[in-house]
Amino acid sequence: MEEVIKIRGGKRLNGTVTISGSKNSTVALIPAAALGSEKVTIYGVPQISDVEALVELLEELGVQVTRPDAETLIIDPSTMEDRPLVSAAVQKLRASYYFMGALLGKYGRAQIKNPGGCHLGPRPIDLHLKGFQALGASVDYADDCTVLVAPPEGLKGARIFLDISSVGATINIMMAAVFAKGRTVIENAAREPEIIDIATLLNKMGARIHGMGTSTLVIDGVESLKGCMHEIIPDRIEAATYILIGAAMADDMWIRNVIPQHLDAILSKLREIGVNYDFTGDSVHIYGNDHSKPFRPTDITTKPYPGFATDVQQPFTTLLTRSRGVSSVTEEIYVERFKHCPELEKMGADILVKIPSAYITGPTFLHGAKVTATDLRCGAALVIAGLMADGETEIHEIKHIDRGYDKLDAKLRALGADIRREFVED
Ligand code: EPU
Repeated sequence: MEEVIKIRGGKRLNGTVTISGSKNSTVALIPAAALGSEKVTIYGVPQISDVEALVELLEELGVQVTRPDAETLIIDPSTMEDRPLVSAAVQKLRASYYFMGALLGKYGRAQIKNPGGCHLGPRPIDLHLKGFQALGASVDYADDCTVLVAPPEGLKGARIFLDISSVGATINIMMAAVFAKGRTVIENAAREPEIIDIATLLNKMGARIHGMGTSTLVIDGVESLKGCMHEIIPDRIEAATYILIGAAMADDMWIRNVIPQHLDAILSKLREIGVNYDFTGDSVHIYGNDHSKPFRPTDITTKPYPGFATDVQQPFTTLLTRSRGVSSVTEEIYVERFKHCPELEKMGADILVKIPSAYITGPTFLHGAKVTATDLRCGAALVIAGLMADGETEIHEIKHIDRGYDKLDAKLRALGADIRREFVED
């Protein structure tokens, strides 16, 4: 039996949805919290399976994890041990690679199985490894593991230029460099809000990191880290997903716990295609849209932050099926991230994929179908399509959705959607 999501589309949505803590912050904050030796309390933790997998990894390392409530994690690394991470949990998610930087920084060595995660085309980690090497570590491979070892005198600060402003490499090198002797400078560092969040946690723990949010990150090594408390920033990709859902289906909908500035590129594209919304403080309000009218078409190109996020292009593609004329989406981060397109075509979309672009001709009216979430944001694209479609949509491989969306079906039901989980024959 397989668990699927079934959506009966066409329902108008109304009310308020509250955005959870950022998934892509959380998956780095958890390994970062293990760098010290005192308790770190993290608030606003999303209930997603990636968090469960990381907690499993912490427990394998002897870290004590307690949860006073569903959204709070207390991570106590005082009993942590220097052990290899080789269990199946490592391959449940990509972000397990943050333990490379954390363990190398803390113990001067790390042995970790190669990570899993969404299949978005090639996802190398060469920049992470080059960064560790620049700090003095050796990199070897044995038994499907990456083995990192610092020299006997420990890691030493270095000047590192990233060929690509990689989110993962920036965070991983930052974690390894926290205890390195002297100053590390990461040039062409990624500027995503999640990087500021991780650096903020580390600084609360006693690290000395400057320049976060700019492309030059400076890390002055320290001797030890202490405990602290930290509230995770709101998930800008989850927020964008609900804003798109609102644009497609809402009469009047509030999306709360949002930092609208994180969504500038997406909100301006929505304005361009003709979606009506306002934002105030930490909320986006979607109202006054005539759903019988098609949107205007647009062209989107994904870029590193503050450009249009690659994670939002898949769900945005669904909305563009309702635009009159031809719209395009061009991927500059993961050129093969178009597996959602054939699934949307099963529901009646007219999309031509010519990598690195997809051309969407509309308006087309989507109908329910059996579709597969090939990756997390493909899942989001299909949920939006299911809400828009005529009839019933059955989404398979929902484990990808559960990796990153906190209580998705409950949040949508509260807005008036007809969505449920069911077990069906494989
Ligand atoms: N890259 C390299 N070498 C490296 C690292 C990256 O060539 O060593 C390339 C990648 O192949 C890609 C580009 O650099 O073409 C950018 O990748 P980046 O390292 O920034 O991505 P990531 O850290 O692996 C994070 C998010 C992704 C999000 C990207 C881009 C997490 C856990 N994942 O991935 O989120 O798409 O940044 O913003 O933070 C998602 O949430 O659905 C998701 C996939």
